[in-house]
Amino acid sequence: MPRFKAVVACFLAGGAKLSNGRQRANCEDHHEKSRRTARRPLDQRPRRPALASNGTGFAVPCGFEIGYSLTLTGTQRPNESDMKRIGVLTAGGDTPALNATMHGAVVRANQCKVEVIGFIKGFSSLFNPRVPHVRLNPLFSTIPELDPTIGGTIIGASRDYVDPNDRGTIEEIVERLKRLGVEGLICVGGDGTLSGMQVLSHYIPTVLAPKTIDNDLGLNYRHEPDEWQREPIDKPPGYRYVRGPSHTRFELEHLINYVTPGFATAVYVSATGVQRIRTTAESHRRIAIIEVMGRHSGYLALGTAYGQPDIVLIPESPLNIDRLVDRVIETYELQKNVVIVCAEGVVDEHGRELGEITQSTDPAGNKVLSGAADALRHLLIERLGDSYFTSKRRNESAKAAIFTRKVGHTQRGGRPVLFDSFYASQLGGHAVNLLLEGQINGVAILQYDSHRGFYVSGINGNDFRDRWGVIHARQVHRSFYDSEQLCLSRVGVDYLLPIFNNAIGTEDIEHVRQSLFRRSNLTEPYHSVNVDINKRICYLD
Ligand code: F6P
Repeated sequence: MPRFKAVVACFLAGGAKLSNGRQRANCEDHHEKSRRTARRPLDQRPRRPALASNGTGFAVPCGFEIGYSLTLTGTQRPNESDMKRIGVLTAGGDTPALNATMHGAVVRANQCKVEVIGFIKGFSSLFNPRVPHVRLNPLFSTIPELDPTIGGTIIGASRDYVDPNDRGTIEEIVERLKRLGVEGLICVGGDGTLSGMQVLSHYIPTVLAPKTIDNDLGLNYRHEPDEWQREPIDKPPGYRYVRGPSHTRFELEHLINYVTPGFATAVYVSATGVQRIRTTAESHRRIAIIEVMGRHSGYLALGTAYGQPDIVLIPESPLNIDRLVDRVIETYELQKNVVIVCAEGVVDEHGRELGEITQSTDPAGNKVLSGAADALRHLLIERLGDSYFTSKRRNESAKAAIFTRKVGHTQRGGRPVLFDSFYASQLGGHAVNLLLEGQINGVAILQYDSHRGFYVSGINGNDFRDRWGVIHARQVHRSFYDSEQLCLSRVGVDYLLPIFNNAIGTEDIEHVRQSLFRRSNLTEPYHSVNVDINKRICYLD
């Protein structure tokens, strides 16, 4: 059971309507409001994060009251620093919980009387001499566009990162931050953002507030970075990093950063996608291959097990095609349909990505993974052949029987489920505290143990680096996966349960009921928050 204090109230004074005309559906409706306000019986209320023992709550507008505490109380300001203005940026691929993270940061900053400016489009803003930015809390009140229940990021994101070897640009950035009066920087991002942030932390205090749907920012255990080894390669000249042997006994409670905001919502989307594909595969006696995101890490694919696929394939376990074909036939013979979840980063027995059909990279240098499900489909068509389907009139051909679907960017968009919005807010607030406490290269993390439940904490950014300074994406620990049955293992189940036991709030469901089939959706055009944010953008003169 997640240890959060449930949504209890709609605090937003101006909750009826935003200046931009967008409705705050869950604040408008009286029925919804009274439902929120009603207190649950004590024994049904999720526990507060365990660190709450000496803390006070701070209220987050629009339906959230966050039980939040650290070594400080909610309204005190840490005295290690007297920062007056901090900056925040959102970098890398977006997640549904970015606004929630910023909201948590801004609420905490308001309490501490710290100004927050948001940089437009991640690090890209800092490369621009005019540094486009937005004041997120003028007069220490949160701007109405910053709604923790809305996906995306109101300040935009990009995959531009600071090159640690480009001294000239770094100095320009530092100078711009100085001219803006920014004394500390919060970067909301994943492993790429943390890498990019490292060099800036030599000049200005920085803290990472984590996010990624891939759930790959973290460590399986404290000394995992020491296990990386590297070998030189010629093309392109550089190094290849490989995992050396591990001598550490794995314990779930040793995970550093148990889960990142965005993951739960992405799993919610992909698992419901699997459920929907299932019934059509059943009706038409088909084999469905559903590709989910996650890059080189299989967390999203494993989480998608909640949709009850028959087979899950993850990048950490190289594809054994014979085993896969056996499992497919076994399942098809029994139920006349098969649903396979395939992570986009799945590799063959030589370690080559199945989806590396288009050899391209994004601006951050990440390989664009595209086509794992299609590659798998071709393999299965070849191995099963038409006769497997036609001989018993099961289907007209292998091609017709086996189909693929990508869940795609729906995993990254839309409203965050309650688990994400709640803990993202906590992490945002904690990132501010870490800065004010005097951290200069901090990472706010979300920890879990069975006694305390989920709680926020902090760690030094350097702890994520290997001996050469490289930050690696976290991979699924082998104990999470059963490579014989091609499914989640018992430990994998134990890992997921605390996250998802209570991940969806009733207000998430109610939101669908209230907002999707509104008449105004048909009669009014979509109003993008970018239009309103544009009006607020300021520049460095
Ligand atoms: O890192 C998040 C992620 O969604 C990955 O899972 C995926 O491979 C990638 O970003 C897609 O990036 P883009 O949106 O740039 O295509």
